[in-house]
Amino acid sequence: MKLLLLGSGGREHALAWKIAQSPKITALYVAPGNAGTAGIPLRGTGDKQSYNVALKADDFNGIRQFVVGHGVDMVVVGPEDPLVKGIYDYFRADPQLQAIPLIGPSRAGAVLEGSKDFAKGFMQRHGIPTAAYRSFNGTQLEDGLRFLETLQPPYVLKADGLCAGKGVLILPTLEEARRELREMLGGMFGEASATVVIEEFLSGIECSVFVLTDGEHYKILPEAKDYKRIGEGDTGLNTGGMGSVSPVPFADQEWMQKVEERIVRPTIEGLRAEGIDYRGFIFFGLIRVDRDYAYAKKGDPVVIEYNVRMGDPETETVMLRIQSDLVELLEGVAQGNLDQRTLLTDPRSAVCVMMVSGGYPQAYQKGFPITGIDTVAPSSVVFHAGTSLNADGQVLTAGGRVIAVSSYGDTKEEALRRSFTEAAKIQFEGKYFRRDIGADL
Ligand code: AMP
Ligand code: GLY
Repeated sequence: MKLLLLGSGGREHALAWKIAQSPKITALYVAPGNAGTAGIPLRGTGDKQSYNVALKADDFNGIRQFVVGHGVDMVVVGPEDPLVKGIYDYFRADPQLQAIPLIGPSRAGAVLEGSKDFAKGFMQRHGIPTAAYRSFNGTQLEDGLRFLETLQPPYVLKADGLCAGKGVLILPTLEEARRELREMLGGMFGEASATVVIEEFLSGIECSVFVLTDGEHYKILPEAKDYKRIGEGDTGLNTGGMGSVSPVPFADQEWMQKVEERIVRPTIEGLRAEGIDYRGFIFFGLIRVDRDYAYAKKGDPVVIEYNVRMGDPETETVMLRIQSDLVELLEGVAQGNLDQRTLLTDPRSAVCVMMVSGGYPQAYQKGFPITGIDTVAPSSVVFHAGTSLNADGQVLTAGGRVIAVSSYGDTKEEALRRSFTEAAKIQFEGKYFRRDIGADL
């Protein structure tokens, strides 16, 4: 099978690493990819390797030409952007692409991530536990300000549309919440904040649950916890993710059963009932609440958000814990027989420590040489997140999040020790990583 993977981050390197292990794969292309996604040995071939294609993940026409020209058999979409822009529908509408499976939801399904107001309404319609909320547009500012007064601090304001992870504000005082609501509805995030969701603050600990679905059947993949803040002890600014851990100790069998019965199954059934074509990954951003709410008891799972893709940096641990052939599962999605496929998970722990550029998530410099990647021990896996190659083949920093060091261990502690040891061997100017990943669990 010739497979094209779209995207360029650590998530895509981790997906490519796993896909390349499938004996079914004869060619693996990543568009646009990064310095790590090219040159991965393909297990199913004698000596072939993956390679990068200089196409943006949302260049639909370019992707079309490449898929047709190279006889690609399957397309896997890493990031949400092409999905929200309708790449699935683009394939289905094109006579030459129609028969080629694309793993990811239709545009109607991608709205679960593309509009927080839609996602909240969907959860309400299907009885899925989520924070109480109301949505407001620019003509309803006064109503929104009055609604804030009925809530307890802290206040949660969410831009309805995609904001590259910046659209959620959590504000400690009513005064700040009122000011920010005015700003958001006044165009702070452009069209994305033309509607704002105001919701109840949920207190508890977060967990990311991933599901692969063919629209009817589903498999629950290993769960993970990510670490969003830049500083140790979960302090400072939000980032794209500083590390992750899988499994999550509190997500035991009893808890995961609640997740499946109250959240996963009603979501899949709700999508079907609403006639939404969804064949791909669903990422459930959950919180285990630490007190009672109207819709959940203390300890229960509540949905914070849906994403229509895998998580980053969760994928960098989740892929380590999938023992089965991922391509076999993706074929199940394409053929609508995922129920006939097996998902075996590795009982070991996996962790990921993200190494970032100095200054990130604020201004930082790019283009510094990275050394030491080849000295990393085999019990760890290096995933590139923001890297590029120069003309001499030197790997350079090319983003805020640069390199993820993922490791296995019989325990989380062992896996973490390995990742920290190996991360110390990789050098680039200004490198920083959090040394407290997993310490709260
Ligand atoms: P989102 O973009 O919806 O994932 O929100 C970003 C982050 O804000 C989440 O991962 C949570 O840490 C936090 N968050 C969002 N909604 C709430 C809420 N209702 N209560 C508490 N924290 C929240
Ligand atoms: N790790 C959170 C996300 O991928 O959105």
